[in-house]
Amino acid sequence: MAGDIYRKPVSFALMAAVTVLVGSIVTMAYPMFRAEMHEKLEKLRAFTPLELAGRDVYQREGCMGCHTQTVRPLRSEVLRYGDYSKAGEFYFDRPFLWGSKRTGPDLAREGGKRPDAWHARHYADPQAVTPRSNMPRYAFLAQARLDPSEARAHYRVLASLSPKGQWTATDADFAALSQKTEMDALIAYTQWLGHAVQRRQAAGGVDLALANPLGDSPRAVARGAKVFEENCAVCHGAEGHGETQIAPNLMDDTFLGVKGDMPDGAYFALVTGGSDAKAALGRPGLPDGGMTAFGGQLSNDDIWAVISWIRAQQAHERKEAPALEQTEHLPGGKH
Ligand code: HEC
Ligand code: HEC
Repeated sequence: MAGDIYRKPVSFALMAAVTVLVGSIVTMAYPMFRAEMHEKLEKLRAFTPLELAGRDVYQREGCMGCHTQTVRPLRSEVLRYGDYSKAGEFYFDRPFLWGSKRTGPDLAREGGKRPDAWHARHYADPQAVTPRSNMPRYAFLAQARLDPSEARAHYRVLASLSPKGQWTATDADFAALSQKTEMDALIAYTQWLGHAVQRRQAAGGVDLALANPLGDSPRAVARGAKVFEENCAVCHGAEGHGETQIAPNLMDDTFLGVKGDMPDGAYFALVTGGSDAKAALGRPGLPDGGMTAFGGQLSNDDIWAVISWIRAQQAHERKEAPALEQTEHLPGGKH
């Protein structure tokens, strides 16, 4: 009886079509019209001329061949990169640069994740920052000046495709481009990526009373030295003195721009949550942030170990500092 349908090709095709159609409506069309699929992105703004010029560099250099710009709503991706991509984020993106190949990481949440100076170093020489990276060097971009008239022409075309008032560059903005390089533009574009989406907040609250469970044990300090070298030295310098000009000195008595150190719990919160954790710590720090959130990358033990190392270094330098001061004030200026 049920087998009859197989002998009626027309009815069978019709029934199959209806079944597939119902499935499509339920899984695709219906969600498309639900409000939560169209999250309003209050912060979304069009590119500035500099950012747009950087986007052109991104396209020209084929960065898309190795990088995607869309975080899929999968747990593993959200944990690694941050909030999944929203439809509205691509409103100004013509053409989309989603890509489909991830030789390097997804870049949809790259903006605000690292300071400009880090990108300048990384783009000029990726291996200097990530030793085993296979990303090519783009140092030549720092020599290439931008052409304001070309940038203006491209900007105008894209602006004409959106309702008025969304692309707001003035003549002065275009004129300023002649002082900028393609490297400046690419970095500005990199920082634009993901700007419209609230960045993931540090998980959990900040407990300043939290003590370092590893204390100052020599094993923890040794392990912390290794963690620091592999993860932190690029920005904070080999000894944590901030000599790279990318990130602050960890050995002085200033913490996030305010004089006065903070307890281990604050270090833990900042290293785990990155610059996003600043608000909870009540200190301003750098206006653009840029401290990486290591919560998803390092184990809690590694984070505590690196704090043990920082504390050991700080204690070591405090012991040496008074001695230095004394020699500087030797009578007769002799050292
Ligand atoms: C041959 C493949 C390849 C190409 C081409 C390439 N990248 Fe990469 N990129 C990588 C790899 C691999 C990494 C991870 C290692 C590293 O940090 O260098 C990376 C890392 C990055 C990062 C840091 C991401 C993060 O959060 O760690 C940025 C930003 C970036 N690339 C931007 C670009 C831009 C912009 C271009 C084009 C000018 C480009 N890449 C071209 C492979 C590539
Ligand atoms: C991509 C660059 C980068 C990396 C990598 C990085 N940091 Fe930072 N770090 C920063 C920046 C930038 C700030 C300032 C953040 C701010 O003010 O919002 C900062 C601030 C800090 C502070 C506050 C110190 C102060 O005096 O203001 C601590 C502590 C810290 N980082 C520890 C670490 C540790 C530990 C690691 C490695 C696990 C690390 N950082 C890796 C960029 C980096």
